[in-house]
Amino acid sequence: MDLKKLKIEAEKGVKKASNLKELDKIFKKYLGKKGEIARVFNSLKKLSKNEKKKKGKEANLAKIGIERIIKEKSKKLKEETRKLKLKKERIDVTRPGKKIEVGHLHPLTLVQREVEEIFESMGFSVIQGPEVETEWYNFDALNIPKDHPARDIWDTFWLKNQRLLLRTHTSPVQIHYMEKHHPPLRIIVPGRCFRHEATDASHGVQFYQLEGLMVDKNISVANFKAVIEEFLKRFYKAKVEIQLRPSYFPFTEPSFEIDVRKGKGKWVEMMGAGMVHPNVLKAAKINPKNWQGFAFGVGLDRLAMVRYKIEDIRLFYSGDLRFLKQF
Ligand code: DAH
Repeated sequence: MDLKKLKIEAEKGVKKASNLKELDKIFKKYLGKKGEIARVFNSLKKLSKNEKKKKGKEANLAKIGIERIIKEKSKKLKEETRKLKLKKERIDVTRPGKKIEVGHLHPLTLVQREVEEIFESMGFSVIQGPEVETEWYNFDALNIPKDHPARDIWDTFWLKNQRLLLRTHTSPVQIHYMEKHHPPLRIIVPGRCFRHEATDASHGVQFYQLEGLMVDKNISVANFKAVIEEFLKRFYKAKVEIQLRPSYFPFTEPSFEIDVRKGKGKWVEMMGAGMVHPNVLKAAKINPKNWQGFAFGVGLDRLAMVRYKIEDIRLFYSGDLRFLKQF
């Protein structure tokens, strides 16, 4: 083929090539080992010395020319791809970031911690006890003997072996603690309790109680009233009135129910309480002649329901994120 034509054709091809792969094909077609230029050089053998010299020079120039335009185009294409890549991978630092969801504490935990802090500042220690109890700690030691009708107050989940049960209240921890510690003592016991009863908006098969116990010399109802009024005032962050109503619990004598009223609001039944029954002190080998105490039991769920205006106790245990995310 005519070298001039060959060069024009190669130039056209290079111009048309829109990527490096196409350009490489053109390189091979003209400058490859078996390409057009190689063929021209091969054909020189047959020519005379002079013609060989002339045609050889021409072929060389054509080769150099094609090489140059391919190199230029290759540079251009590489630059274009680089620019395109930069554009595609550009990071927009002004775009709003992805929000990371942060977890938080359960409303019952929040209330529990707040209550603990208030009582700790009044010299009470926070104590834990077992959720699986023996009949002795949950009932007998609390002056609720077998066959006593008062046992009916607590619908109990009995375990299959050895008369074990799921504690129906946190009161058994009073006994555990008094067995190991000498008075004077002040404790609160937050913990989970279980009752074998139908659930409704204010009763669950599990719930949280907070037990309180103070044993010292010359303790009277006045001490209880002062402690509980101070607690309620700080928990509600408002002045509250309390009212003691006579009630019955086997482990206290006298026993009462505490109603609470905030401002001019309704009286709300809040907790059970009383002066620790001498039989309970005796069960823990404490001499009731020398020591007296008061005790109380309040539902932590109840406190949380009042605090957050929640109507149904079951929401606390539902695991419903729509509910939980509000705290
Ligand atoms: N244990 C009682 C209950 O679960 C609550 C209670 C009442 C606890 C009076 C006390 C108390 O310590 O003195 O219903």
